[in-house]
Amino acid sequence: MPGESFFITTPIFYVNDVPHIGHAYTEVAADVLARWHRQRGDDTWSLTGTDEHGQKILRTATANGVGPKEWADRLVESAWKPLLDTVDIANDQYIRTTDPEHERGVQAFIQQLYDDGHIYEGIYEGYYCVGCEEYKTRDELIETKDGDYAGELVCAIHSRPVEVLKEKNYFFRMSDFQQELLNLYGSQPDFIQPESLRNEIISFVSQGLEDLSISRSTFDWGVKVPWDESHVIYVWFDALLNYVTAVGYGDPERSGPAGTGEFRRRWPAVHLVGKDIARFHAVIWPAMLMAAGLPVPQRVFGHGWLLVGGEKMSKSKLTGIAPQQITDVFGSDAFRYYFLRAITFGQDGSFSWEDLAARYQAELANGFGNLASRVIAMIARYRGSAFPEASVDVEIAELAARVTADADDAIGRLAIHEAIAHVWRLVDALNLYITEQEPWVLAKDEAQSARLDQVLATAAHGLGTLAVLLSPVMPKATAKLWTALGGEGAVQDVRLQHATEWKAQTTGSVQALEALFPRIEEQEAGAA
Ligand code: MSP
Repeated sequence: MPGESFFITTPIFYVNDVPHIGHAYTEVAADVLARWHRQRGDDTWSLTGTDEHGQKILRTATANGVGPKEWADRLVESAWKPLLDTVDIANDQYIRTTDPEHERGVQAFIQQLYDDGHIYEGIYEGYYCVGCEEYKTRDELIETKDGDYAGELVCAIHSRPVEVLKEKNYFFRMSDFQQELLNLYGSQPDFIQPESLRNEIISFVSQGLEDLSISRSTFDWGVKVPWDESHVIYVWFDALLNYVTAVGYGDPERSGPAGTGEFRRRWPAVHLVGKDIARFHAVIWPAMLMAAGLPVPQRVFGHGWLLVGGEKMSKSKLTGIAPQQITDVFGSDAFRYYFLRAITFGQDGSFSWEDLAARYQAELANGFGNLASRVIAMIARYRGSAFPEASVDVEIAELAARVTADADDAIGRLAIHEAIAHVWRLVDALNLYITEQEPWVLAKDEAQSARLDQVLATAAHGLGTLAVLLSPVMPKATAKLWTALGGEGAVQDVRLQHATEWKAQTTGSVQALEALFPRIEEQEAGAA
């Protein structure tokens, strides 16, 4: 139902390094969902931001000879906020864990858990991976046989030695919530998606949960534990809370009395995360919320990894590709389209320049772009740019209505690749329609004038539907197409539900359209 609250989040990213296309992938997926819901008229809020505390950031800053806050400021301004422009993200909010409102919210939350008896003092003795910022068990580690770390225990993800800790920490009684979590997974089957991840999490929690160390005392880059300032709060405990502090949790002015404040209005959220961090979101996070008596998230969706050479792309393994390398050549629309269309959302996907270039040419330039240019050019040539007034061929009209409904349904299931594929049925059908109807032949015969009007109206009408439906995925190209069709106002203001009835909102004449997806010279693509 339009008008419902839709609150979508991305993970907040570590500022130890600059973004790569894996980070941009999550951003783009969340942005397409947010734009889609906004265009449906839902009460949408999209949140992203940066995770700035913890040992990893502290060490990077120190190695670079600056303080951690200065380092974070530098990376946020020079790399993380600019990423949003690079891939055209229309987020509603950007949170930093160093924001004072967030820090206050984190302290209010942990104090409540402490007062309610969910936290106790103990000794943590075990392994820790600073790369993951995660406590590890022995069976999560690999004993290396050769290379730089021969004989050492390394993290399976980072391939770097873990640290052995023995320190006094505060612990969260997470084990108390095992049954409640299993009940949640059972009663809300789409709480964790996709299914494979859900099964993995259920089996993990079924094996029993340990209490979680939630403070550190050997360094001080973090939010202070309010009742014991010699400790800082564990970076993940701090980071997960961004999802609620962003919308006013812990701020009496914004969260307000029950049922009225911003927090009540927005929460719970849909969390998009990489599958590597799904456990934090589907186990620790709901347990924290249960302890505080707050509603759990609506969904946790773990998407797959972008692989390069068969491995998870990562900066630490030097396989990172900067998003701008791609957008400089292909543009942000193509970036957004490619990653969401080519990869089944929820599964891993391999990136290759060849595949990107091939899809750009076949689907965007030849498939969609060329269709748009041809139709607009024919209306200009045969009808002096006047938008043809004629009824639309029934088959195309029906298909347009069907793909609108199918795409909306797919988005509701977070199957973004499927939504785009549905819309593309209309792109393909219109291309075939033009080929079969041969408007250039009709144009030569005065007796076929009414039929030519109908063919051009059908094609132009279909293009308008495409502009509306694809605007969440490719905001720039669809804005140009909308203007060329004589659309009034901004295309993203046309309700998706009206994607087939958009004609009421036009000036009545078309305008020239530059190529939506210009040809890319091979040397340009190769140089990237
Ligand atoms: N700071 C934590 C998240 C805290 S959320 C409360 C963190 N940050 S991170 O900078 O390491 O970013 C992790 C996220 O980046 C992943 O969950 C995923 O969304 C994205 N990706 C990082 N590498 C990726 C790929 N190679 N492929 C796809 N997504 C990837 O973890």
